[in-house]
Amino acid sequence: MSTARIVVHDAYLIGDVDRRLFGSFVEHMGRAVYGGIYEPGHATADEHGFRTDVLRLVKELGPTMVRYPGGNFVSAYNWEDGVGPVEDRPVRLDLAWRSRETNRVGLAEFAAWSENADVELMMAVNLGTRGVDAARNLVEYCNHPGGTYWSDLRRSHGVADPYGIKIWCLGNEMDAPWQIGHKTAVEYGRIALESAKAMRRVDPGIELVACGSSNRWMPTFGEWEATVLEETYEQVDYISLHNYYEDVDGDAASFLASSDSMDDFITSVVATADHIKGKLHSRKSIQLSFDEWNVWHQTEFHSHDGSREAWREAPDLAEDVYTVTEAVVVGSLLISLLNHADRVRMACIAQLVNVIAPITTVEGGAAWRQTTFFPFADVAARAGGVALRLDIDAGRHETAKYGEVDDVVAAATWDEGTGEIVIFAANRSLDRTVELDLVLGGRFEGYRAMAHRVLTHDDRDAANTADRMENVTPRTVSVTDSVAFPPVSWNVVTLRRA
Ligand code: AHR
Repeated sequence: MSTARIVVHDAYLIGDVDRRLFGSFVEHMGRAVYGGIYEPGHATADEHGFRTDVLRLVKELGPTMVRYPGGNFVSAYNWEDGVGPVEDRPVRLDLAWRSRETNRVGLAEFAAWSENADVELMMAVNLGTRGVDAARNLVEYCNHPGGTYWSDLRRSHGVADPYGIKIWCLGNEMDAPWQIGHKTAVEYGRIALESAKAMRRVDPGIELVACGSSNRWMPTFGEWEATVLEETYEQVDYISLHNYYEDVDGDAASFLASSDSMDDFITSVVATADHIKGKLHSRKSIQLSFDEWNVWHQTEFHSHDGSREAWREAPDLAEDVYTVTEAVVVGSLLISLLNHADRVRMACIAQLVNVIAPITTVEGGAAWRQTTFFPFADVAARAGGVALRLDIDAGRHETAKYGEVDDVVAAATWDEGTGEIVIFAANRSLDRTVELDLVLGGRFEGYRAMAHRVLTHDDRDAANTADRMENVTPRTVSVTDSVAFPPVSWNVVTLRRA
């Protein structure tokens, strides 16, 4: 047993937690849409074909915002294919995922689903095969009240009121050679700037996200962000970050420390954005949108060459089954996001259903929670108010990839309204139980731990599957004198005034 001393004081604040930090992502990829949120023949489907059992789980998971429709998919997508009468919509080849896209679900259906799910829609435009014109038309279709070609087209499709979509991604991963319409930083910067200008002229109230790097290991990382921001600075509000984490070589200790890598990634992008701010003598700061993050068995996914396979509708792609270890990594990544809440204002776990997702479905059958569901649901439900800057003194252990790392990482939020502090903690040690030693200062004197919820398992490879859907679930531990974090565990501790 070792100890983690955590100092919590109301004088040390990071900043307000933006609820958009708890976003997710639905791409037209694999069985995310068709066979995921949408399955008309399913016993629970509503009159529009959306599964209500899945919707119920989405609500329980609690994302606040959902990015749509891609991802790589968006870079060759015609948004016009997804509006108007469904029977008139074309079937297309989706070049990103070698699939047949029927367009039975498009903007209209997804916007209605988002409303039911009570999530804000974050829309991505195609800057791969298309550009300024398609982007500004889409904003007009979505956000202009009426009396113009595109807004009246929306009205003729039965949607009288504008959707009022606020957040727009200017393309997706345009730095990546695998992207349809891949561009150099200057090429992308130019088209992003011109699209942003036109989109803002249609609706000055929108917020725009420029593409950052596809991951922090891209050869152009750093240079890409600097160039893109130099081109677009005054017209965009956010720069995106994407990164997926995985245990490539069976090195669990390093994998469990993945959030240290996320921390570094975030601080590097902040440094680059602020460097450009200084260089341009700008008064505004660019915020970060970590709009794709998760654990993904990507090596396995990419080892399969499907380039000559038949074109299928909604093939099963990237349907990862997540272990307890992976849930603890997801929890620690959420901790990293909370600890950078002053600059990371939006984030999306990628994705939501079936594809690298916290929710899995069987066609015609059940839907269930993966292990990674629980840390996300905890943070989305409980993190609120202001993020506190914790001072943590914990034991350390050696990892092959990151050197010495802390056994425990933690974040905390304080809701002044309820007076409650919630500490989120991941014990990343493979073998050490860690006892919490709380030091409460300032207005928090007199607080104490009142509740403790933990996600762990004797077998850290345990998962939830079709035949054992509730194999891994969190449990509530009674708080007596002490709070202890088991090895490889995700913990939520609630503090209140005694
Ligand atoms: O989320 C899966 C894919 O990962 C997205 O389409 C792409 O943006 C990223 O490379």
